[in-house]
This record gives sequence, structure tokens and C-alpha cells, in this order.
Amino acid sequence: MKAKFRLFCLTALLMLVNINSGLYAADKLSGKEEKKIRSLISKMSLEEKVSLLHGNSKFYVEAIPRLGIPELALSDGPHGVRAEINRDNWNYAGWTNDSSTYFPTGTALAASWNIDLARLRGEVLGEEARFRGKDILLGPGVNIIRSPLCGRNFEYMSEDPYLVAQMTTAYIQGLQSRDVAACVKHYIANNQETDRATVDVNMSDRALHEIYLPAFKAAVQEAGTYSIMTAYNKFRGFWCAENPYLLDSLMRQELGFDGIFVSDWNGTHSTLASARAGLDLEMGTDKPYNEYYFAQALIDAVRKGELPESLIDRKVAGILGLMMKLKIFDPAGRFEGSMNTPEHQQATYRSAAESIVLLKNEDNILPLDPAQLKSLAVIGDNAIRKHSFGGQSSEIKALYEVTPLEGLKNRAGAQFEIRFARGYQKSQRPSNRPDRALIDEAAALAAQCDAAVVMAGLNHDYDTESRDKPDMALPYGQLELIRAVIKANPKTIVVIIAGSAVDMSGFNYRVPGLLWAWYNGMEGGNALADVLLGKINPSGKMPFSLPVCLDQSNAHALGEFPGRNRQVDFFDDIFVGYRWFDTYNIAPLYPFGHGLSYTQFEYSKPRVDKEEWSMDEKLRLRMVLSNTGRRDGAEVVQLYVSDPESELPRPLKELKAFQKVFLKAGESRELVFELPLGSLAYYNDIKQEWLLEPGLINCLLGSSSGDLRQQINIKVK
Ligand code: BGC
Repeated sequence: MKAKFRLFCLTALLMLVNINSGLYAADKLSGKEEKKIRSLISKMSLEEKVSLLHGNSKFYVEAIPRLGIPELALSDGPHGVRAEINRDNWNYAGWTNDSSTYFPTGTALAASWNIDLARLRGEVLGEEARFRGKDILLGPGVNIIRSPLCGRNFEYMSEDPYLVAQMTTAYIQGLQSRDVAACVKHYIANNQETDRATVDVNMSDRALHEIYLPAFKAAVQEAGTYSIMTAYNKFRGFWCAENPYLLDSLMRQELGFDGIFVSDWNGTHSTLASARAGLDLEMGTDKPYNEYYFAQALIDAVRKGELPESLIDRKVAGILGLMMKLKIFDPAGRFEGSMNTPEHQQATYRSAAESIVLLKNEDNILPLDPAQLKSLAVIGDNAIRKHSFGGQSSEIKALYEVTPLEGLKNRAGAQFEIRFARGYQKSQRPSNRPDRALIDEAAALAAQCDAAVVMAGLNHDYDTESRDKPDMALPYGQLELIRAVIKANPKTIVVIIAGSAVDMSGFNYRVPGLLWAWYNGMEGGNALADVLLGKINPSGKMPFSLPVCLDQSNAHALGEFPGRNRQVDFFDDIFVGYRWFDTYNIAPLYPFGHGLSYTQFEYSKPRVDKEEWSMDEKLRLRMVLSNTGRRDGAEVVQLYVSDPESELPRPLKELKAFQKVFLKAGESRELVFELPLGSLAYYNDIKQEWLLEPGLINCLLGSSSGDLRQQINIKVK
């Protein structure tokens, strides 16, 4: 008989405890705190209770002063604390003290593959949110990158659920350690912006469990997130904000979530259905506040006997429980916070420096040697563009933002001359018309200089909330520009500044040096200059595959983006990103996990203590990593597994662990990977359980999903 690995018994047990406890958010609170919650609720009128379940302005929830309950303050967003918005409209309040620290966006964080940096970001954001008096920070954004066209890819992190889950966990732990609640978003399947408010997403249980859910599950079970934001779209016919399966069965009962569900802004559609399904807090509805679904209509529903008051009490207990966890009733014991400190700025620099990906480095054109350089042509609108204040809800009023041109000037000092040409002009999108005069000027400049760097890519007209990109092309005639510059000066480096894949097939083979530098936060320009000039050895790795063209990628190859008649079926199923490319033998331009270094790393043969492992064990795998080059540097060792003998087809390989390791030139270190055998299971949706059948498992160690260096096979008993 086949041995089966069942992960859900414990959660089923938890589910019973949860249903019966009544005050679900109070589960992890002390008896004293629970008592206080019950006592507060017992003193509230129905009107007061309901006032806690909806916004009374764009980002606040009403206070109840007579009971000592302060207002609850929410703020965007994932890579900085957003500037203050007016209470009753979407204009900025015009404060002069709300400029904040601006971190590299989500894809950049994931590209660092550095979990400590995710935690540090959470801590810094928590400190700044506290300083600004915020209780809930609306992030991180953890939706899977399914299509290169999704406008919000830059805010999200990766196509790989494991990488996203790791980053999410550390980020939330950091944030909540500063007494600020995370609001992990958008639950679930908001993987496109086209029709986001109406589209109905369908996917298999397997895709849900293996690809789209893991980051949310980790947020709940590993990080203990205090809140979750429901997505705008429908999932299997029901709006996410009133989806009984998503909210109650899956999240509360199966996964044991004990925090609150917050609607996305204007993402609530009903009173009864949302209340019954499990929504706790309605925000952003486009109506007067007393006409929100969770305002007078909720009071009326209770009065008419359509909803029991005990349901309202449970939701109120959720809100009060969150306040307790944040020490809102104990202000003296609560984290105080700080804003724009040098440490915060340094954290953004570290994050930027570790996120930059060296895609190509022919003849070691990089790093540029200042001693050999008299003049450098810096070309492109992105050399001088600031990106912090763009992308919609995640936009940041940054205290400052160092552009690539400024960064280069800061670092070059008097060592060499820097000359700038714009090369292309940002204009109305979609725009692919080259500007001949600007191109000629840029090419002429490149010809006069020792080397040229083209700062190309996108901006937040393309990488933005509420709309997807029209295609993968580099806009504004950048392809013509890049080709002309390379022709004028073969010593050309292209830097792509973007949050999602762009088509590079038209110049990739001609350019010797290629870097990916993201929307990289307030210190992005300095970090980029340090990589270009060799002060920083690049160590970022692509968190998503870079296809040759759009049609190569999963959703588009199957014609399932953005769906039709407001319905999208994820026929690509679990085959998203490299899972798709690898399994169907499609060669992307650059694979998931790719990123070069100025030094070289050698991987020793891996070792395991024994060949056969049983389900309840932790697989221990050791290998030695050596920096065999002449520069210090960091490598991300990626461990993929392949399960050739499973009952259902599995992707050719899946990322199951990684370690980012810094080694001095010539240094070697033994790395130990420990992974519970259970984490190798797949979701068998015929049997509705996580399974790992006995048999062979290949463990593959590599520098990217396309550059596997070592393999060792084990047997599962
Ligand atoms: C976005 C959320 C954001 C909210 C508040 C919505 O449009 O989808 O991510 O947190 O607005 O600004």
C-alpha cells in the first residue's frame, strides 16, 4: 500500500477549536485580554459595534472615545508608508512631514533572495508606520507573477510560490515586531489588472494549493499575519470579499487564520453575503460612509433578524483583538517608531545593492574601471527619472530619490567625465515611436565617449496598478535607440529599469553588458553606480523568467490572458513561469533564478547521510560552495527537486530551498540544507490531499533554474 503524507489532520482539529471559540481573533490573546474584549463588547450598542466594521474615511475606522477605543489608522503600502491622504477624498493632504523612506519595490526585494533584508524592510516600515501613527500597513503584495503583462508585477514578488512565501514571512514578522499589522494582499488570484473588479477567476485546486495559496498560507501559519485583504475579483463565481470557501472554509477553518479580513477599497458588494462569508472590515466603498454595506445596512440586517448579533460580536472581537495585539490599549508598551533615519536609508541601499541582476557580462565588460575611463555616456530617460511617486496605491512621497545619473555622478566624482543624452522621451502610452533627433544625439555622444550606459526600461505609466501593459515591447522607440548606441560604441551596457519582463530579444545578442535594476528605492542610483563601477559585486537573481517573446509564456501561449467575457481560466494550472518553460522545454531568454557575479563559484558534489528517507524525516543535504574568483561576492545556491515517479504529472523541477551566501575571494563554506520531506509533497486534487509517493527524488543544486551544477538522488520510503 502506498504511504501517504497527510498534512491537514492538525488543521482540521484547529478548525473545530476555531469554530467553537466564538472570538476567533482572541485565540492567541491572554485570558485577561480576552476578558477585556468581552467586557468592551458587552458595553457597546449595536451602532457602536458596527462603527468598527467599516471605514469612516478613506483610511480610518471610527474611535469610540467613551470606551477608550481609539481610531484605527490604515495606510498603503508595500514599499514605503504612503503620504497622508485626505479623509474624504483621494487627494493628498499636503502635509509637509509625511515624506518617507522608499524601498525597492516587490520584485526587487525578491531579486535579492535575501530573507534578512525582507525582515529588515518589515522592521523599517513598521518603525515608520508607527511614527506616522498607523496601525495597519496594507502589504505585502504577494500575488504570483503569472503574466509579464500584469500591471502590478512590480509590487508583487515572483512567479515562484516558495520564494514569495519566504520573503512574505520575514517581511510580516519584521513589520509586526514593530506593533504594526500586516495586511497581506490580494487574497486571491488578482493576477491581472484587466477587469480586476469584475473578472471571475477559475483554477484547479492543485494550482490554488501549489501556486497561488502558499504565500498567504505562510503569512498565516509562519508569520501570523494579523490581517488579510480580499481581492477585487471573483473566484469561482463569488466575489473574493464574500467568498465562503476562501474566507471561511479555506482560510479560517483549514489554515487556522485568526486575524481579520479587510476588503480591498471599493471591493465589497453586499451586506449579508459578505458578513456571512467572513469579511470583517469594509473599506473604500464609493458611497457615503453610512451607506457602506457594513454600516446602516448591517444594523438593519441584525434588527430584522437576518443576521445574528453574535456574528457582529465576532467581527468586533476580531478588530479589538487586532488592537490588543498591536498594544493599542497599552500605548506606553507600544513601539514608538522613527522616520527617515540614516539606518532606514541604509536599509534601502542594501536592499537595492543586493537586488541588481547581472544578466550578461561578455568579455567582463563590467565592472567599469574608473582608471581606464575618461568619459562615460549616460543615455535614457530612466537615467534621470524618479519613480517613487508612481504606480498608484503603492506610490511613495520619498524623502529623496537618487536617480542613476545622480548616482553615477556621486560615485565618479572627478575620476571621469559623465555626459548625458536623453535618447527617448516619455510620452503618452502606448508609444513606440522613436525620436530620431534624440537617437542621433545619443549615438553621437556614445561615439565620443569611452563607454556608454543606456538606462532603458519602463516607468509607472506601464508598471502600474489598474491596468496591464499592452505588450512586452520597450516603449518610446528604445529598441532603435539601444541598437543605434551599440552601433556607435560597442562598449555599451544596457540597464533595464522595470518591474516586469520586457522584450529584449531585439538587442540582447548585440549588447555585451546587461543589468536589471528595478524601481530600486531612494538609494537606487547609488547602488547601481556601485555595481557598474565594481564597488558592489552583483548578487541579485531574477525572480521571474524573462521570455524571448510574450507568446512563450504560460498564460499567453494558452490564450488565457486576460480571459473573455469577464472570465479567466488558469489552464496553465501549476505550470507557471519556469515550471512551464522547463516542463514544456521552452528556452526563455533568461531563466528564473539567473544572475551572474563578478566572481565565480564552484559547487562541490552534494552529500546526504543516507539514501533512503521516510516521510517524517528532515532531509539533510550538504555541499561546499567555493568562491574561486578574485573578488568577494555572494551566490544564491538554489535547490530544486524533481519527482519523476509521481502519480500526477509534476513540473520538471520546483524550488524547495535556497541560501544566499557571501564568500570572500578564495573562501569555501559548507552549506547544509535541511528540508522536511513533507515540503516535497504535491497537491493531489483527485484525492484532495498533499501526497508524496515512495520512490526517486532528484535534488538539483544550481546557480539558476537553467544552470544546474550538481545533482543527487534520494529515495523516499
Ligand atoms: C489597491 C490596494 C490598496 C488600496 C488602498 C486598492 O486600489 O488594490 O492594494 O491597498 O487600493 O489604497
